[in-house]
Amino acid sequence: MIPQSFIQDLLNRVDIVDVIDRHVPLKKAGANHIACCPFHGEKTPSFTVSPTKQFYHCFGCGAHGSAVGFMMEYIGMDFVEAINDLALSVGVQVPTEENKEHYIEAIYRENGKNKEKTYQTMFDLMNAITRFYKEQLKCSERGINYLKKRGLTGETAARFGIGYSPAGWQNLAEIFPDYDSPLLVRIGMVNENNEKKRYDRFRDRIMFPILNLKGKVIGFGGRVIEKNEPKYLNSPETPLFDKGHELYNLFAARRAIRDAGKVLVVEGYMDVVVLSQYGIDYAVATLGTATTQSHVQKLFRQTDNIVFCFDGDDAGRKAAWRALENSLPQFIDGKNIEFLFLPDGEDPDSYVQKYGKNSFKELIDQSLPLSSFLFQRLSENINLQTSEGRTKLVESAKPLLGQISAPILSLMLIKRLAELSGINQDELESLLQIKRTSSSSIRRKVVLRPITISPCRWLIQILLHDPSYAAKMNRAILSEYNINSNEMDALLALLEFIEAHPFIGENTAIPSAIAYFHNSVYRELLEEAESATLSWDNKMNLEAEFKGALIRLQQMQRKQRMTELQNKPLNILTSEEKKELRQLAVLLG
Ligand code: UTP
Ligand code: MN
Repeated sequence: MIPQSFIQDLLNRVDIVDVIDRHVPLKKAGANHIACCPFHGEKTPSFTVSPTKQFYHCFGCGAHGSAVGFMMEYIGMDFVEAINDLALSVGVQVPTEENKEHYIEAIYRENGKNKEKTYQTMFDLMNAITRFYKEQLKCSERGINYLKKRGLTGETAARFGIGYSPAGWQNLAEIFPDYDSPLLVRIGMVNENNEKKRYDRFRDRIMFPILNLKGKVIGFGGRVIEKNEPKYLNSPETPLFDKGHELYNLFAARRAIRDAGKVLVVEGYMDVVVLSQYGIDYAVATLGTATTQSHVQKLFRQTDNIVFCFDGDDAGRKAAWRALENSLPQFIDGKNIEFLFLPDGEDPDSYVQKYGKNSFKELIDQSLPLSSFLFQRLSENINLQTSEGRTKLVESAKPLLGQISAPILSLMLIKRLAELSGINQDELESLLQIKRTSSSSIRRKVVLRPITISPCRWLIQILLHDPSYAAKMNRAILSEYNINSNEMDALLALLEFIEAHPFIGENTAIPSAIAYFHNSVYRELLEEAESATLSWDNKMNLEAEFKGALIRLQQMQRKQRMTELQNKPLNILTSEEKKELRQLAVLLG
C-alpha cells in the first residue's frame, strides 16, 4: 500500500490538465478544458477537465475521476502503476509500502516469521527503546535539569513517557544484542553510514514518544539540550509511522477532547506537554509537518470543534493559512473550525506558564472563526473601497470557495463575500460558476456504451448533494422499473427517507441521511457515493446531470425490458407484449 499522505501530496503536485492533455488534446473553454470524450463516441465535446478541482467529468457518459483515475481508465493501468507513472512525470520517488513490505518479507523469511509477527516485533522494539530512554532519564542529571528548567514536573514527564537518549553512538547495543537487526533500521532508530557502520539515530536528546491511536509507540521526537541543530529530530517515515496521519498526544487526549468538546491543535511537543501540566489536556500537535487534510479528517472523527493555535508571527500565520486550505475540502456542516493567534513572541508553552490556564482559556474562547480568518486574510492589502479591490477579493476567494463541499459553509461564505464585494449574491453565484454551453445538446444524446457511473448511483449522489431533487423524482414509477440492483434499492430507500423527512430537502442536510443509514445494508454504498460528491462544487450543472441520469436510467429499464421480452418464447408473448417489443425496438434505435 502506498501511504495515503503521499498520494494526496502527489495529486497536489500533478496537474490533471497536463496529464490528460498528453493523451487527449484539450481545448481551453473558460476556466475549464474540454475535449470530445475518449470514453464514448461523440462529436461535440462534453468531456470536461477542471484545473481548480483537478477532476475530469463527462456529461455524456458519466465518466468521472482524478488524474489517477484517468490513467487507470484510459491507459488501463492498475492503481500502483498509475501512481508510479504520475510520480515519474513530476520527478518524485514513491515511498511504496510495497518496497517496505518486500523488505519486511525478506526479513521474516530470514527469521522464519510472518508479517504480523514482524510488525509485532517492531512494536516490541519500540517499546523496549521507550523504556530504556525513560530509565536513562532517571539517571541523567543533565536531562532532568533541562526539563526542570523548562518547568516540567516529574509527574508530567512520566505521564508523557518522556525519556533521554544518552550521548554516545551505540547505546541501543546495550539493550539489543542483535544491534545488527535490520528491523532497528526499519523502525528508524538506528542509522547506517556508507561504510555500513551503525549508530543510534537519537543521541543526547530529550525523547518524546509518539503513540498511534492504539497507544503503541510508533516514533519519537527528540529535542537537543543545548543549542544544536536540528532543534528537534523526528523519527523518519517508517512502516509504523506516517507523519501526515499522526498527531502527537491524540491517543492520550481522546477522553479530554470528548469532555471539552474540542481539540486544540498546537505546533510543538513542548506546547502539548506544558498545556497538559496546566490542566489543558485536549491539545495535540502535528509532527514537524503542516496540517494535512487527513489530520483534519482524523480530528473530525473525534470532535466537532477544532481550534488551531498558532504563534502570532509570520510563520504562524502562514502555517495557519495552510491549515485553513487543507481544512476547506474536509469541512463538514455542523462542525466548527477556529483559529487562535498568540501574541507575537509567545507560544502556548510560554504563554500558559506566564499567564496561567484561565488566561489561555480566555484566548481559546476568543478564537477567530474560519470565515473571519479567511476574509481577514484575503482582504489584507486590498482596498475594498475601490472596485478593483473588490474584484481582486472575489478572484482570490474563488479557488478557495471551490474547495468547499459543505453546502452551508459554502453559502455562508458566498453571503459574506457578497457583502464585502458589494456584488449581490445571485450575480456572485453566477460569477463563481462556469457556464456550460454544450450541456443541452448532450442531454439529448443517448449513451449506450458502458458507463463508469451507473445512473442509479449518479442519482444517489445528486440526492445526497441536494436532496431537493427528490421532489422531481417519482418513486412509484422508479419502483416499477424492473432494474434489480443494489444501487436501485439504495436509491429507492434514500428517496423514501427524504420523502418521509420533508425538512431535509429544504436545508440540504445530507449528514442526517447518512446517519439514518448507518446500520443499513446500503451504508457502504451511500458513504461511497457521498464521498464522491466531495469533489463536486457549485460549478457542477446539477440540473443537466440530473436529467441526463434519468434518461440513462430509462434507457436501462427499456433495455432490460426488451431482453426480458426477447427471452420469452414467441408463442407465449401476448399481442400487448409484442407491441411493446416493437415500441422498445424503435425507442432504443
Ligand atoms: P518550535 O521551534 O516552535 O519548538 O517547533 P517548540 O515546540 O516551541 O519547542 P521548544 O519550546 O523550543 O522546546 C515546533 C515543532 O516543530 C517541529 C517539532 O515538532 C516542534 O515541536 N520542529 C521544530 C522540528 O521538527 N524540527 C526542528 O528543528 C524544529
Ligand atoms: Mn516553545
